[in-house]
Amino acid sequence: MDNTSTSQTMAMLRIGDKAPSFKVVTTQGDINFPDDYKGNWIIFFSHPADFTPVCTSEFMTFATLEDKFAEANCKLVGLSVDGLYSHIAWLRTIKEKIQYKGMKDVEVNFPLIEDITMEVARRFGMIQPGESSTKAVRAVFFIDPKGVIRAIIYYPLSLGRNFDELYRALIAMQTADAFSVATPADWRPGDEVIVPTAGSCGVAKDRMEGKEDMHCYDWFFCTKKISEQEVLGRILKK
Ligand code: BEZ
Repeated sequence: MDNTSTSQTMAMLRIGDKAPSFKVVTTQGDINFPDDYKGNWIIFFSHPADFTPVCTSEFMTFATLEDKFAEANCKLVGLSVDGLYSHIAWLRTIKEKIQYKGMKDVEVNFPLIEDITMEVARRFGMIQPGESSTKAVRAVFFIDPKGVIRAIIYYPLSLGRNFDELYRALIAMQTADAFSVATPADWRPGDEVIVPTAGSCGVAKDRMEGKEDMHCYDWFFCTKKISEQEVLGRILKK
């Protein structure tokens, strides 16, 4: 950890902060985070413990979706406060023995960080003593290609993550960046997006002129259609 100390009193990371950098050992060799991922989005996530069932279902799902996230220029990096040999043994067991929802023979090819000192987990607010002081909660940090934290989601130990939502959030943030728009409730590619507010009704009307694809219901609520093809064509790697 090179840009900050790891004392308990450190401020919690927030959206808009630069992701702290660190060098660690993983199941895929040493990594220098986030520099090794420059130019990519990163989903950096923690799980409570190896050899536990909810985490196993999540790892199988993440591994199965790894190529889909990669198409959206996003790398996966996992962490728990277990050691490297535990990680390796658990991932081998998953591959050799576990079948879940039609997934089997699942190989986890993204790095899983060993963090027995809890240094990284503490810095990222993954240790939440109200839930557990010996295990990380299920945290998800979305980090953009410039190393900036763009979204953070925390789940308790008992709750497995929703991967549709993780993917939806990633695509929605990339869409917001690419088209300078916002995405409304439950947005999915192909749905209408929100055009930044115009400031007054008159301005809203002006903005609509010649823009048949845009609809202003009032000064604060303008939408427009961007087709799924246009969104995914801009975002996904060919
Ligand atoms: C699980 O992954 O199954 C789990 C881990 C820690 C506490 C509870 C459940």
